[in-house]
Amino acid sequence: MKAVQINKYGHDDVLEVADIPRPTPGPGQVLVKIHAAGVNYYDIKIREGWLQGFFPLKLPHTIGNDFAGEVVELGDGASKFEVGDKVYGLITVHHGGTYAEYLAVDENIIRPMPENTSYLEAASLPMPGLSGLLAMYDLAGIKEGQRLLYHGGAGGVGTVSIQLAKHLGAHVIATCSEANFDFVKGLGADEVLDYNTTDFRDVASAIDVAVDPIGGDTNLRTFEVMNPGGVIIVVLRDDPVEMANRERLCREHQVEVKVLAFDLYPEGLDTLRNKVEEGIIKPVVEHVYPLDQAQEAHKLIQGRHFAGRIVLEV
Ligand SMILES: NC(=O)c1ccc[n+]([C@@H]2O[C@H](COP(=O)([O-])OP(=O)(O)OC[C@H]3O[C@@H](n4cnc5c(N)ncnc54)[C@H](OP(=O)(O)O)[C@@H]3O)[C@@H](O)[C@H]2O)c1
Repeated sequence: MKAVQINKYGHDDVLEVADIPRPTPGPGQVLVKIHAAGVNYYDIKIREGWLQGFFPLKLPHTIGNDFAGEVVELGDGASKFEVGDKVYGLITVHHGGTYAEYLAVDENIIRPMPENTSYLEAASLPMPGLSGLLAMYDLAGIKEGQRLLYHGGAGGVGTVSIQLAKHLGAHVIATCSEANFDFVKGLGADEVLDYNTTDFRDVASAIDVAVDPIGGDTNLRTFEVMNPGGVIIVVLRDDPVEMANRERLCREHQVEVKVLAFDLYPEGLDTLRNKVEEGIIKPVVEHVYPLDQAQEAHKLIQGRHFAGRIVLEV
């Protein structure tokens, strides 16, 4: 089968389309014919080797975590799915990769995909969708009437979080480039501002929940617009100097910082499916590339300026 692999860590040119043996499903596994694979910034981090300290990989390694496809074979003892079922999910680097034509995967960590989506849409959902659920429900616990500030609202996690926050009755202020104003307003944001030309401190105030996937100075300035008792959800790992600043700022502004630490969350895929089938979350796939153009997809995502989700069609 075809798979997009790396043989060494590096820039997007280390991505290679390889011919490798089709996997065989082991006990409790199913073989999925992948129709689409979501592309996340996390994939870039894996490719560049930023996470080697946490996840040392055996090379060659197939890239990708999010997928949607069809069950084509059952391993011994696998009983949750039948051949032909449409499934979606997310795997960790220890399970292999999803930029590939087939995936042998433990049946316990995948779920039926939403009935009202295409494969492309379903593959766009897992990592940003589950992150959005964790952020809005578990970490923020958004309540009606609360004021949410989302930095970088046009990104993957923002796309889901803003829709959820509106569903929960929040007033949403989002930052993005001017080119993405219509896109972010379309998600339901009440106020949109261009972070290139406007300091959000001039527009946003009395914020109950802020989500920050940007970090650095954006993170530090966010404290100034928070209500006492507010929560800042940090989506990125940070340097120790900033962490030290943060402790002081948390005390001064009576704000709590919560870090979004994503992990496998199979039951979240059920919640995500329900929210999509109820029309609360609409997947937004803006860029589709064939599998053998994974390099182009990586170039787009590492440029950091785009809207919605990027998906590989397999
Ligand atoms: N901790 C976790 O468990 C976890 C989970 C999921 C994601 N993440 C991380 O969170 C980050 C964001 O992921 P994502 O999938 O939501 O984003 P993404 O889809 O990679 O999108 C990047 C977005 O950031 C915006 N942007 C770039 N620079 C900005 C700035 N200075 N201020 C405001 N917006 C800016 C861009 O918008 P414009 O085009 O409008 O400029 C673009 O839409 C990534 O680093 C990802 O790896 C972490």
